[in-house]
Amino acid sequence: MDITKQIAFITGGSRGIGRAIAIRLAQAGADIAMNYLRNRAAAEETAKIIEDTGSRCLLLKGNVAEVEKIPAMYECIQKEYGKLDILISNAASGVIKPALELTRRHWSWTLDINAGAFLPLVQHAVPLMKNGGKIIAVSSLGAVRAIPQYAAVGSSKAALESLARHLAVELAPKNINVNVISAGIVETDALSHFPHKDELLESSRIKTPAGRLVTPDDVADVALFLCSPMAKMIYGQTIVVDGGYSIMA
Ligand SMILES: NC(=O)c1ccc[n+]([C@@H]2O[C@H](COP(=O)([O-])OP(=O)(O)OC[C@H]3O[C@@H](n4cnc5c(N)ncnc54)[C@H](OP(=O)(O)O)[C@@H]3O)[C@@H](O)[C@H]2O)c1
Repeated sequence: MDITKQIAFITGGSRGIGRAIAIRLAQAGADIAMNYLRNRAAAEETAKIIEDTGSRCLLLKGNVAEVEKIPAMYECIQKEYGKLDILISNAASGVIKPALELTRRHWSWTLDINAGAFLPLVQHAVPLMKNGGKIIAVSSLGAVRAIPQYAAVGSSKAALESLARHLAVELAPKNINVNVISAGIVETDALSHFPHKDELLESSRIKTPAGRLVTPDDVADVALFLCSPMAKMIYGQTIVVDGGYSIMA
């Protein structure tokens, strides 16, 4: 799947799933703009891997929840590359707690990063997608299932998936496909916030028909497919990448 000469912007592209997607798109020929928040060393390490594929990598530090900082990121992309073809809205955070223990701050923090940022990210991306484009949001099974202590993140992901469907309809005439990838549990640094992480991983592995957990590369493969011309008639779908976990009773 060749996406040579395409420009891809990945939020939270320095670690975990975002990192795997950024590297996969670079391997397929795209030049990358990679956003991260705090960890410069991880961002530089990922940028080096991307540059070793022969692709370019622009690093963009910033919190996607600070909406006023988003235009500056797109100005850097415009200046460096002159256009945008692919947006991967992947950066996420969130408070893992029972719903009754969530404060107003926990709730806003989670919603702002995971769902709130997606709208301005898309609004500023579209003017740069002059030849159409592909937009993908990264979600999780908690958008449609109840997972212990996941009320805030699950609700934010549900909002994200709904917004993606509405955007898919609105942007279809501009030749822009909007879709969502919903991943099963993936062992990344994000899981360090979960209580009983090891038990969670093991119980998920046992319940996964594929016999193993989803990896960041599994998610990246589907992202590349959705960014390719082969996925041109897929609009507003949530593609579940979970090894069959969610079809089990
Ligand atoms: N891991 C799972 O089990 C799983 C399952 C389903 C879906 N997902 C989804 O997959 C996506 C990636 O998760 P992950 O597990 O790969 O996370 P991760 O390993 O914790 O990586 C998070 C990435 O996002 C960046 N980031 C965090 N908050 C940010 C913010 N406010 N603004 C900009 N960048 C920010 C981090 O940058 P710094 O390093 O600079 O902080 C890092 O690059 C998320 O949308 C998550 O909900 C994960």
